[in-house]
This record gives sequence, structure tokens and C-alpha cells, in this order.
Amino acid sequence: MLTPNPRLVFAKRPDVGILPVPGEHLVFDPSPSIDLDAVPLNGGFLTKTLMLAPEPFLRERMRDPSIPSYSTHAVLGAPVVGSVLVVVIRSEKEGVNIGDRMYGLSHWEAYTVQPYVEGRVDFKAGNYTEDLTIDLDTMGLGPVPDPKGAYPWSRYLGILGAPGLTAFCGLEAYGDAKKGETIYVSSGASGVGSVVIQLAKARGLRVIASAGSDAKIEYMRTLGADVAFNYRSTDVAGALKKHGPLDIYWDNVGGASVEAAIEHARPKARFIMCGSISEYNTEPHTWYGVKNMSTIWKKRIQIHGLFVGDHIPTLGPRFFAEVPALIAQGKMVGQESFTEGLETAAEVLVRLLQEGGGDDLGKPIVVVARE
Ligand SMILES: NC(=O)c1ccc[n+]([C@@H]2O[C@H](COP(=O)([O-])OP(=O)(O)OC[C@H]3O[C@@H](n4cnc5c(N)ncnc54)[C@H](OP(=O)(O)O)[C@@H]3O)[C@@H](O)[C@H]2O)c1
Repeated sequence: MLTPNPRLVFAKRPDVGILPVPGEHLVFDPSPSIDLDAVPLNGGFLTKTLMLAPEPFLRERMRDPSIPSYSTHAVLGAPVVGSVLVVVIRSEKEGVNIGDRMYGLSHWEAYTVQPYVEGRVDFKAGNYTEDLTIDLDTMGLGPVPDPKGAYPWSRYLGILGAPGLTAFCGLEAYGDAKKGETIYVSSGASGVGSVVIQLAKARGLRVIASAGSDAKIEYMRTLGADVAFNYRSTDVAGALKKHGPLDIYWDNVGGASVEAAIEHARPKARFIMCGSISEYNTEPHTWYGVKNMSTIWKKRIQIHGLFVGDHIPTLGPRFFAEVPALIAQGKMVGQESFTEGLETAAEVLVRLLQEGGGDDLGKPIVVVARE
């Protein structure tokens, strides 16, 4: 018997500098179907997608193949490959059982025969080319433990997924955080930023955080931010002048914020360059040119480019030993905002690629199926 297997297809590359358009670049295709009982597994396993997380890195993957970047480009005509939480519904693979839940990168479709790769998240050096480009199509899935009611499964796409890992790895690898120091976190209400705020508070830092709506300012305060401001109505440099100087800058946005942070950094400050979302959908000639580069050496600022995957082999085990327990004890909180249906995924993605990122608080999650 055939069951519908809708998918979100990467149908057309958006030009440099524009937001992808749902229905044009990302097309929901309800027409495919699958025989769940008879589809050959070839020694693999069949998964049902429960939830997925639209994330900024997907825009980078839509670029023209001639443009180099840190990840391989997405394949035209194929389903989007992004973060998912799935449940195993059939298996021929040893060690993978019906009912197992897995998190990682997979096709954005209702059902998938796995592994389209090795079936596990593997950030070992083999995934990288010599120029440090990582092949995200070959990352695959890894099992996640049953939280047994201590927290919802959706946490695996937020604080316990890539956003939380990124925050933990970046701060541990490059923060050199010392009690009483001051950190500024841009995009502080984002999946990554919301965890940076909490980890920074746990390490005794004073936290300045910014986001693009007043509701997010309140949200960042509940996470522990000592100073929270709306970068769309408050001048970033002015806010940092008033509340700085900074010992650590966590950069999620790029552009003029970097210049402001350099200006108001203390000598020997650490900068953790995690993302530059203000430039993902704009043309290079419009990118903000940071004018105070010489201040970097004058203040001996240490600038670190972060890619989470580099640190998962070394810091991942500590993250999974520490953070789930802190969540279960209520010492750290995760929050997700939910949208129903795979057909909404493209719109949710496009929304978070824009200033303000929509009104939702917490990591945006698309619920594909309830069990
Ligand atoms: N280096 C790594 O390994 C790594 C891993 C994961 C994520 N990242 C980066 O971390 C950052 C946050 O990712 P996430 O998954 O946590 O994001 P997210 O939860 O999806 O939130 C994205 C937020 O970015 C803000 N934003 C969008 N356009 C903006 C613009 N033009 N200027 C300023 N802010 C803008 C919006 O919030 P507001 O405007 O309301 O603040 C939006 O809600 C991104 O830059 C992402 O690329 C890096």
C-alpha cells in the first residue's frame, strides 16, 4: 500500500543577495509516495520524520557551486538536507531498532530509507576536504537517548542539538571566560545565542545581549542577560559604550556590530566569530566594511573563527555529560516555537533569515508528524 511521502525540494538557486522564495527556490512537493512495508532497506533502516529545524546554514548551502564556502553546496532537485528528529519504523541494520529516535542531518521528507550515508553523525577529519569544506550531505544521523519525561524530545533540535553544541564548544574552546568578565552576545535570542547567555551566566560572566524585538529582549532577560537591548531601535556602539567594555564578543551577525565590539573591547578580549547572518542574504558590495581593524592588534584582540563540527569530537562528550543533566534539573532551559506541517518549513526558514526573525521565541521547529 502506498503512503504519501511529501518533501521539500531545493528547486532553484537564489541569486546572491536575495532571500529564498518559498514556492520558487524551495518547493513543497506532496506527490511522492512510498510503500512503507515493502520498500527495500538494503541493510539500512526506514525513518519517519517527526520534527525538523530550519537553520541559517541552509541559505549558505543554496549558493552557486562556483562560490567556495565552509560546506558543500546543496544539490538541486533533491530534498533539502537539514536537521531532523526521526523515529525508526523498520530496520535491517544491526543495533538500530524500531522506535529508536535519531537526530542529525537528513532529507526533509516524511519518510526516508537510511542511511543515505553511514547512519551516524561523524565529524572526524574524513568529512573535510583539504580546504576545510565539510560535506553536510554525508553527516547522517546519530541515536539520542530517551529523556523519559525529563524534557521534551524537541530539545534535541535546540539546546541539545547543533545550537547548544555550538554555544558550548565555542565558549569552551575560545572564551577563556573568567568570573566577573563581560560578554556581548549578538542575536542573543537565537538558538545559539540563548544558550551562550545561559552558559555565560553559569560561568559568572556579566552578559550584554541584543535581539530584534522587544519580546525577545524580555526573553533574554529571563535567560539571565544583565543588559538586553533591541539593536533595531538602539545604536549598538552606543549600548556597548554605556555597558562595556567587553572581555568576550560572541558574534552571530557580522557587519557593524563587529566594529562596535572592537571599539569597546578591553585589551586581550576574545572574539568568537560564529556567524554573520546580517550578510547571508545581501550582496557582497553592501557588506559593512569594518573600519577599525588596526585596533585589533593594538588591543591584542584574539579573533577565533568557529565551526562547531571541529570541536564535537573533543568537546561533544562533555556537552552530553553536562548539559542534559542541567536541563533536567531546571538549571538551564530550552525553548522551541512550533509550526505544524512540512509545507511550512520554507516559510519558517525565510522568516528566521530576516531581522527580527518573526515573533516566535525560542528555536523555530517544524512538526512534521505526531507519532
Ligand atoms: N559557526 C558555527 O558552527 C555555527 C553553528 C550554528 C549556527 N551558527 C550561526 O549562529 C547564528 C545563530 O544561528 P541559530 O541557528 O541560533 O539561529 P536562529 O535561532 O534561527 O535565529 C536566527 C536569528 O537571527 C536574527 N537575524 C536574522 N537576520 C538578521 C540580520 N539581518 N541582522 C541581525 N540579526 C538577524 C533573527 O533574530 P533577531 O533579529 O530578532 O535578533 C533570527 O531570529 C547564525 O549566524 C548561524 O549562522 C554558526
